[in-house]
Amino acid sequence: MGKELLVLGIESTAHTLGFGIVSSEGRILANINYTYKPKEGGIHPREAAQHHSAIASTGIAEAFRQAGISPREVDGIAFSVGPGMGPCLRVGATIARTLALKLEKPLIAVNHGVAHIEIGRLVTGCKDPVVLYVAGGNTLITAYMDRRYRIFGETLDIAAGNCLDVFGIKAGIGPMPAPEEYGRRGRRFHPLPYKVKGMDVSFSGLLTAALRMLKEGVALEDLCLSITETVYSMLTETLERALAFTEKKEILLVGGLARSKRLKEMVDAMAELHGAGVYVVPPEYAGDNGAMIAWTGVLQLMAGQTTPIEQSRVRPRYRLDETDAAWREHGL
Ligand code: FE2
Repeated sequence: MGKELLVLGIESTAHTLGFGIVSSEGRILANINYTYKPKEGGIHPREAAQHHSAIASTGIAEAFRQAGISPREVDGIAFSVGPGMGPCLRVGATIARTLALKLEKPLIAVNHGVAHIEIGRLVTGCKDPVVLYVAGGNTLITAYMDRRYRIFGETLDIAAGNCLDVFGIKAGIGPMPAPEEYGRRGRRFHPLPYKVKGMDVSFSGLLTAALRMLKEGVALEDLCLSITETVYSMLTETLERALAFTEKKEILLVGGLARSKRLKEMVDAMAELHGAGVYVVPPEYAGDNGAMIAWTGVLQLMAGQTTPIEQSRVRPRYRLDETDAAWREHGL
C-alpha cells in the first residue's frame, strides 16, 4: 500500500458551489456546499456565478479547516469540467487552475455525471450497478461497459426532476418534494401521457397535460399523485429494461431525485422480481456536492488521468459516455 492520497474537489456546475476533500481510502474529510437561491424563477447562470465567486474563498478555508489539513497536503485539485452552465463552470475551473498552479499539484478535470455515480458507489458499497441518475437537470440510465459509462436511455426533452419541480412551482406548492408529499393525499389517479421509447423517456407532454388539467379544476392532490406515479413508473420501466439487457445484479439511484421515497418503493418492487439489489445514495450526497468531485478526482489520479492546464477548458455539454473510466479497469 502506498501513501494515502488526498484530493480537493470543486463543484460548480449550476446552483451549488462545493468543496470536498476525500482520501484514496474513501474517507470523506470535508464536504462544504453552498447553494445559490434565486429570488424568483429559475437559475440565472451569471447571478449564480457571482454567488459562487463571492463565497469561494470562505468555502476553501472552511473545507481545509473541516478536514484538519493544510492546502499543501493535497495531492491533486479536481473540478467539475462539465456538463453545466458556462459561467458557473468557469468559476470552479478558475479556482482549480489557480490552486493547482500555486500549490504545484496536478489538475484533474471531472465529469459531473460520472462523479454522481462514483460517490454513489463509494458510499453505498455497490460494485457494478445499473444507474438511474435523476435530478433537476438530468435523467439517464447508464451502466459501465468497456471502459465507459454507456448511456442506455435518457430523457428526450426535460429532466424528470425538472418536470416535477415546474409542476409544483406552477401549482403554487413549490418544487420537490412538495409534489410527492401532496400526492400522498391524492385519491384518484388521472391518466397522463406515458412516453417511453425503448429506454428513452419524454416528460414535456406529460407536464403540459398536468398543468392543463390543473387549470381545468382537477384536485391538486390527485394531480400530484398522478404526475409522480406516472414519472416514476416510466423511470422504473426503463430501468428494468436496462437491467435485463445488461444482466447486472445491482441498481443504484443517484442525483437529487434519488431522495424520493416513492421512487425507491417502485424500484424495489421491480428489483425483487429480478433478484437485484437496490442502493440509494444518502441525501447529503444526492445533490451536487464537492465530495463527489474530490472522490472521482482520487480515482482519476490513481489511474493517471490528470489534465494539463492548457486542456482544462470547461465543457458545458460534456456527456457522461465521453469519459474514459480507466479506473474501473484497475478494479477501483
Ligand atoms: Fe448534478
